[in-house]
Amino acid sequence: MSGNENGIAASKPGRRMIVAIDGPAGAGKSTIARHLAQYFGLLNLETGAMYRAFALKALRAEIPLDDSSALEALTHETSIQLESGEEENRVLLDGEDVSGLIRNPTVTEAASRVSVFPAVRSWMVRLQQQLAAQGGVVMEGRDIGTVVFPHAEVKIFLDAAPEVRGQRRYDQLGEKDRSSATPPEEVIRDLRARDERDRNRADSPLKPAPDAVLLDSTNMTLDEAVAAAEAIVGEKLGLPAAKA
Ligand code: DC
Repeated sequence: MSGNENGIAASKPGRRMIVAIDGPAGAGKSTIARHLAQYFGLLNLETGAMYRAFALKALRAEIPLDDSSALEALTHETSIQLESGEEENRVLLDGEDVSGLIRNPTVTEAASRVSVFPAVRSWMVRLQQQLAAQGGVVMEGRDIGTVVFPHAEVKIFLDAAPEVRGQRRYDQLGEKDRSSATPPEEVIRDLRARDERDRNRADSPLKPAPDAVLLDSTNMTLDEAVAAAEAIVGEKLGLPAAKA
């Protein structure tokens, strides 16, 4: 991975810009967004955490995840704040830090299900637009380049073959807790099901914006994908290419 040889010089022109990173689960969005944020001096905002926090609230309230009216009503009594950190985002649900509670398979599945509803999406999009109104952010999700910030200065659509994404997810889960790691086939199956829903929903389906740069990390290490993303942003900023 390239170090930040450009240092402050690189962070200055990037301060107000918006970098949109979209793509399916396990493509490496979070890792790349975190590195880009550090390298170019931007805030890193992970919108999936917001959908996850809302899904957690729906689960706690025992609202059926297909009840669009009840979910819409729930948006009116929910506050979600997202804070960029050095490593991970902190997400506050009605003031409670739920960052550690939103990564399990139940919430993951629920987040994909509640995110199909237009009322939930338009509320989230408003929150996300407010969060990044000042610019100077890398925002990652599924619809950032298409809906949330269609005029973002840089748009990257990150993809990789499902088997590769599933294996990466499995490795990440295993790093945290080997004993409870789900078998890789199951991780790949869940990921395909979630992809299917995220790509085929009527409202803001996961797809590249027409002006997004496509980055397929199937045959790359994450370090290589990070370097490729840095080069894409650097080029947009007119920075000289980093030395290999
Ligand atoms: O990025 P993630 O895996 O944390 O996202 C969880 C779910 O949230 C994902 O399956 C779909 C939904 N999502 C979305 O619809 N739009 C976004 N901008 C971000 C996430």
